[in-house]
Amino acid sequence: MKKILTLYLTIALVVVFASCGSKTENKNVEDYGAPDESAAPVVAVDVIAQGESLVNASDCKTCHHKENKIIGPSHTDVAKKYEFTQANVTLLAQKIINGGTGVWGEIPMTAHPDVNQADAEKMARYVLSLDGEKEH
Ligand code: HEC
Repeated sequence: MKKILTLYLTIALVVVFASCGSKTENKNVEDYGAPDESAAPVVAVDVIAQGESLVNASDCKTCHHKENKIIGPSHTDVAKKYEFTQANVTLLAQKIINGGTGVWGEIPMTAHPDVNQADAEKMARYVLSLDGEKEH
């Protein structure tokens, strides 16, 4: 009889400890999980820096230099020609995707069908920022 009591007691203690343990675990999740999420830094999306990376990763530099005319106009000259507006961002993004000729001379700009509209607009924003003008 004593043995059985001891057994019950042991089981009871194990159960109590076990539930204590899981309670502590849940508490930890609440204590550390939530604040971590809210403390996550808000990443400032620098569209112009992204545009610069995209230009550097593409073939643009074969024909465009930042300050000097090569085959195409320098990207700074493009920035000076156009106002930094959403309308011109859209216009130049279309030119980046579709290519074209006749604005700067007879040499055509090649099409970039693999560049999507969003990335083309980031590139256009980078190019338009080169004369120091801010988007307006
Ligand atoms: C094969 C050479 C070549 C490549 C590669 C090239 N361009 Fe051009 N780009 C040109 C030429 C030439 C022009 C001038 C076209 C014209 O006179 O209409 C031009 C014009 C432009 C313009 C001004 C468009 C306008 O209508 O005024 C922008 C912006 C531009 N390029 C961006 C880019 C970007 C961004 C890339 C890379 C994704 C790129 N180019 C790749 C040759 C090139």
